[in-house]
Amino acid sequence: MVQGPVTVTVTGAAGQIGYALLFRIASGHLLGPDVPVKLRLLEITPALKAAEGTAMELADCAFPLLQSVDISDDPRVAFDGANVALLVGARPRTKGMERGDLLEANGGIFKPQGEAINAVAADDIKVLVVGNPANTNALIAQAHAPDVPAERFTAMTRLDHNRAISQLASKLDVPVTAIKKLTIWGNHSATQYPDLYHAEVNGKVAAEQVDEAWLRDTFIPTVAKRGAAIIEARGASSAASAANAAIDHVYSWVNGTPEGDWTSAAIPSDGSYGVPEGLISSFPVTAKDGKFQIVQGLEIDAFSRERIDASVQELAEERDAVRGLGLI
Ligand code: NAD
Ligand code: LMR
Repeated sequence: MVQGPVTVTVTGAAGQIGYALLFRIASGHLLGPDVPVKLRLLEITPALKAAEGTAMELADCAFPLLQSVDISDDPRVAFDGANVALLVGARPRTKGMERGDLLEANGGIFKPQGEAINAVAADDIKVLVVGNPANTNALIAQAHAPDVPAERFTAMTRLDHNRAISQLASKLDVPVTAIKKLTIWGNHSATQYPDLYHAEVNGKVAAEQVDEAWLRDTFIPTVAKRGAAIIEARGASSAASAANAAIDHVYSWVNGTPEGDWTSAAIPSDGSYGVPEGLISSFPVTAKDGKFQIVQGLEIDAFSRERIDASVQELAEERDAVRGLGLI
């Protein structure tokens, strides 16, 4: 049971995801219906006015659980005493930008934020990185917070997890609640591996209830490329569904996962399933007493092995790139 009030810092608070996220945090969906919340919004200076507008709207909701809203463009102020940090603000890839440029630009954001978290956040700080490339941005922040236990830095693959559940439920014409033990492995990118070999539908192995061609040629690419499909359709990247997934991730982390099920989160590898130690990779995880744990003992067949290895290889390349840039 969480005691309040809990200080929650949201970066990129004036952005699209921020707008979809803050009202749900303030209404009790992040931590629970009885937990008072203090919000801290971090933005870059030019976006402070927009953040103030959002804070005015938060006030106008008269949320019973919302104790305060503070806005700053200084990470050392915004993360002061934070118990939960949602790192949403990131530099998007723009035309002509190479991958190295993107990683470097994000290093300029996540390095000082990691340092500030290290210096001023509460001892029990939990960090979720949403801003892309989420796994590697989490690695950068973590590298600059040596006094914070490494496992407190996580990255979001819950949106991919939810997308996979929804696609499968729709294919089999079952409610989403019939699906358990779904796993997203690897990176939050097009190389991710949504695994139906361990997932269950009404207690039976999911992969055995769909044909293999659909699983390999439709399901996996649909889930892995869903972010791009949303951008194509909306003209902007997913926002409400991303905010919803961030809420789900933190709620599970703080309040635990239900018996007989697990979820997906990118957490620092302990070497499980051949993922090099330290990489922030998505795994099947349970949560208890405020800690994520990797589900152990799953058998990995050759097809899954190949998919997991490919995504983990991409993560290792991103890590090497940021290391080469001196960001970790
Ligand atoms: P957005 O451009 O609408 O908002 C981003 C906000 O971040 C802006 O208001 C900007 O001013 C702010 N910002 C930039 N640098 C900052 C800094 N140093 N400190 C504080 N704030 C800063 O973008 P969005 O749609 O809200 O998306 C945010 C990020 O989330 C993007 O990187 C996007 O790719 C990513 N995303 C991730 C997932 C996922 O599943 N992991 C899903 C959707 C989107
Ligand atoms: C998503 O999965 O919707 C986003 O990560 C896409 C993006 O590139 O912002």
